[in-house]
Amino acid sequence: MSDLTTLQQTILTAITDATDEAALESVRIAALGKAGSISALLKSLGGMSPDERKEKGPQINGLRDIVNDALLARRTALKDQALNARLQSERADVSLPVPESMAARGRIHPISQVIDELTAIFADMGFAVAEGPDIETDFYNFTALNFPVGHPAREMHDTFFFSPDAQGERKLLRTHTSPVQIRTMMTQKPPIRVIIPGRTYRCDSDQTHTPMFHQVEGLVIDKGSHLGHLKWILAEFCKAFFEVDDVKMRSRPSFFPFTEPSMEVDIQCSRKGGEIRFGEGEDWLEILGCGMVHPNVIRHCGLDPDDYQGFAWGMGIDRIAMLKYGMPDLRPFFEADIRWLSHYGFRPLDLPTLAGGLSV
Ligand code: DAH
Repeated sequence: MSDLTTLQQTILTAITDATDEAALESVRIAALGKAGSISALLKSLGGMSPDERKEKGPQINGLRDIVNDALLARRTALKDQALNARLQSERADVSLPVPESMAARGRIHPISQVIDELTAIFADMGFAVAEGPDIETDFYNFTALNFPVGHPAREMHDTFFFSPDAQGERKLLRTHTSPVQIRTMMTQKPPIRVIIPGRTYRCDSDQTHTPMFHQVEGLVIDKGSHLGHLKWILAEFCKAFFEVDDVKMRSRPSFFPFTEPSMEVDIQCSRKGGEIRFGEGEDWLEILGCGMVHPNVIRHCGLDPDDYQGFAWGMGIDRIAMLKYGMPDLRPFFEADIRWLSHYGFRPLDLPTLAGGLSV
């Protein structure tokens, strides 16, 4: 057997024996790489006599072609084998649900959802949204709202005060959204129809109170506005928000320095087995404070109370969110616990609209 035939057999056996692509590549390098056995033979052609080259040339080139073909065939076979093994081991269960994308997995906080819901309801009644700063002055939070200096109603608010500044002025975290009534009346001409959702702060903490909470204020200032309008607006709001056909309401006299008369409004509910339902039952639940804007407040804002009247109301957003979505404790609202949020949160693309539904 000639040397070439022996070499060919050795290489072809090595190719057949290679069990993966890495082993096959080593065989290729040993034969056809720079220092490979066949490469050496090809190089030796240069030093041969023309006659010898005529004889050996086709043999060596033939050997190279045979080895190349064998390498290619083996590589294809190994690739197929590897793919088959993968297909066997990695079975795709096409009946499994498609995993949610990161963006779809996020949830909207119930407070944001409820603010969007009530904004949609009041926008439909022609209300704009107004906003003001969380850090307020005593003037906007109290004085302009007809809380006289030293009046006990100021103490009821459990205010967080800042240290006095260089001018001796003591700023505070607003205790209610009512200061934005003043800011709105001072900058906008009547007729005014706004709602004011926002953060509010009081030094208080238990199952239904947190130091930071949310209110939504409503304000209407015009020439002919009266309590009948207020009653209708609140009833329409409650029906739309709690998604019931009818809701009975009652008002009780109350006191707020910035309204006269002042009332607290309760809505009819049932409390069966600890669950509160609206639009039925014989029980009552307080949901807001309201009244006709006090003439002093209108005067403070540069308007003539003989020309303009209006009404206002203030409602706890967290409270109505707890009532609507059956959340018993307020504190987890602000604990940023992802388990709570994935349970009570809303899908990012479920935007509340009156046409499409508020809370579906
Ligand atoms: N600001 C009041 C509070 O936080 C709530 C309130 C009551 C707002 C009556 C009003 C209103 O606009 O008319 O207790």
